[in-house]
Amino acid sequence: MHLESRVAIVTGSARGIGQAIATKLAEHGATTIINDLDGGGAEQTAAQIRARGGQATAIVADISQADEAKRLVDETMASYGRLDILVNNAGITRDSFLLRMSEEDWDRVLNTNLKGAFLCSRAAVRPMMKQGWGRIINISSVAGVMGNAGQANYAAAKAGLLGLTKTVAREFASRGITVNAIAPGFIDTEMTRPLSEAVKQEFLRLIPVGYAGSPEDVAQAVLFLASEEARYITGQVLHVDGGMLMA
Ligand code: NAI
Repeated sequence: MHLESRVAIVTGSARGIGQAIATKLAEHGATTIINDLDGGGAEQTAAQIRARGGQATAIVADISQADEAKRLVDETMASYGRLDILVNNAGITRDSFLLRMSEEDWDRVLNTNLKGAFLCSRAAVRPMMKQGWGRIINISSVAGVMGNAGQANYAAAKAGLLGLTKTVAREFASRGITVNAIAPGFIDTEMTRPLSEAVKQEFLRLIPVGYAGSPEDVAQAVLFLASEEARYITGQVLHVDGGMLMA
């Protein structure tokens, strides 16, 4: 996969899955924007990529805020003059059962995981349309397809991302922009590490391959969808979950 001359924004890429995606795209030649709320982590990730010969710049922005999402795209355009790939990866969890879920936790999760993707996509499609080429990849979750007790806010946001993906895919298909979603299953990151051993064992029982995925597993799928080779794939949901969900 050749991504030389491509410019990519990966939201929430200071660590975890986003970091693996940004590193992978940079390894294949893309100039990569490391966006996160965590400035130190974003700078560190960008420095690691540059140390390996890649091109990366950190931009701190809260993608749940419209002006910040726009600034992220504007600063990328000001620095590099183009934007080819947007990976909407930033996400948070605020888990609790429905009866105990606060309105604040509902809003925070929806604002980051769903509204953030809308705001970044809206800002990104303008330059992509002018270029006649673009890739938007939304990181959803198996929870958005199956539901998950204790995650009404998260599952609703991740399901919402699938509707967003398919709609934006239809709106921009004729402009050379593809829009796809990836639904990871159980991936070993700082988001899942705090789960109790009992919950982890429960997940593992549901995974036919028998082990948790790595951020690298998700990054490989993003790399493919971001490539020219994937030009005929749009509006799809790619499950990267060790067979957890077979539709
Ligand atoms: P993580 O918690 O390790 O990393 C998420 C990153 O997003 C953090 O660096 C955080 O600072 C950043 N972030 C949060 N809010 C932000 C905002 N408003 N603006 C900019 N950056 C922000 O999580 P992980 O595990 O790497 O997850 C990445 C994505 O993959 C998330 O969307 C998550 O929902 C999704 N996912 C993860 C799975 C897993 O098992 N770890 C499974 C399915 C989906």
